[in-house]
Amino acid sequence: MIALSEPKFQENEKKYLLECLKTNWVSTSGPFVKKFENEIKKITKAKYAVACQSATSALYLSLKILGITKNDEVLVPSITYIAPVNAICHNQANPVFMDCDEWNNLDIQKTLIFIKENTFTKNNKLFNKRTKRQIKALVIPHLLGSAVFFDKLKKICKKKSIFIVEDAAESFGVFFKNKPFKNKHTGLVGDIGCLSFNTNKIVTSACGGALITNTKSIAKKFQYLIHQAKDDSDYFIHNDIGYNLGLSNLHAALGFAQIKNIKLFKKMKKNIFFQYKKNIKKTYFFELVEKKDYIDSNYWLIIIKTKKKFNIKKLILYLKKNNIQSRMLWYPNHLQKPFFKYEKTDLSQSMINYKTHLCLPSSSFLTKKEIKKVCDLIIKFEKKYLLK
Ligand SMILES: Cc1ncc(COP(=O)(O)O)c(C=O)c1O
Repeated sequence: MIALSEPKFQENEKKYLLECLKTNWVSTSGPFVKKFENEIKKITKAKYAVACQSATSALYLSLKILGITKNDEVLVPSITYIAPVNAICHNQANPVFMDCDEWNNLDIQKTLIFIKENTFTKNNKLFNKRTKRQIKALVIPHLLGSAVFFDKLKKICKKKSIFIVEDAAESFGVFFKNKPFKNKHTGLVGDIGCLSFNTNKIVTSACGGALITNTKSIAKKFQYLIHQAKDDSDYFIHNDIGYNLGLSNLHAALGFAQIKNIKLFKKMKKNIFFQYKKNIKKTYFFELVEKKDYIDSNYWLIIIKTKKKFNIKKLILYLKKNNIQSRMLWYPNHLQKPFFKYEKTDLSQSMINYKTHLCLPSSSFLTKKEIKKVCDLIIKFEKKYLLK
């Protein structure tokens, strides 16, 4: 089976994991946790990086730390992995679903129009005209190796007291190239960035995530909350309701070995992208979804889109029969059962992308031969079913 996105482990992963076992340091307080965090800081240039069990937990606690609570509203795109929407709902706030652009990232223009036409301002705070609830935050996921350039939106958010949480789960190693965000890593433009190191990400610690920020108080609060809000470890004094969400030394050891290869992984994924570009050109109905040119991408996942109307699930099944894993984009969140009741804006582009986009195998170690095999099968499928 050619998988969608598989990790590759080398010698250091084994070496560091064995070191944990030999030294008995497997818990959340082992030395690899700090080493991993320092490496995240070095690469992203974040002032603070705190490792935790997942991007999901970082997203949930980010909103909590920023004070998002009952009756608040949070803007979030419908096309994204479900975690940020769950994080909003777990904080008892209400998601308002925004559309995406052709590249599957938040549509900035439509979001600005929504703010202009559907909200009002009182005491420098923004309220939804329809519900009269305060819009307190915006979650911006940087998806599939691309990123959202949100300079105009950032200015408005600052003016209207809206916090920005960047879901950078998929964008580790992605930097902006243009002013005013030039050389900034995704996740460090808004108030908080959340990274994921789960198994399908460009760098993995098996499971794991991190919060990155340049604000000391946020990092400190996050560190405190994920370690049971412990104020005195000798006498077990806890002055807040905490969580057990710290990253273990074992996971950090794996992450520390992996993260050292980020430049290499990026380079390999870039090559894969250009190999696909060459091969997809030979298909009849498909084209590659490009990465935005204002970013230095990590080329995390290959996405193609079709110009011909047909049920894309047929192609997924065809590839599966030939031992190739592919998948549609995430089922749009506004259509998910738990989120039916929340407000939706015009989501026409989300629906178009959902029906026409397909994710293809993108592991860093994919060979030229495997890429050709995937694309040749797509051509075969076209000849068999679409060219009739
Ligand atoms: C955009 C996005 N956000 C959040 C997450 C959640 O990450 P984690 O698995 O580390 O909780 C993912 C993971 O796939 C993701 O792709």
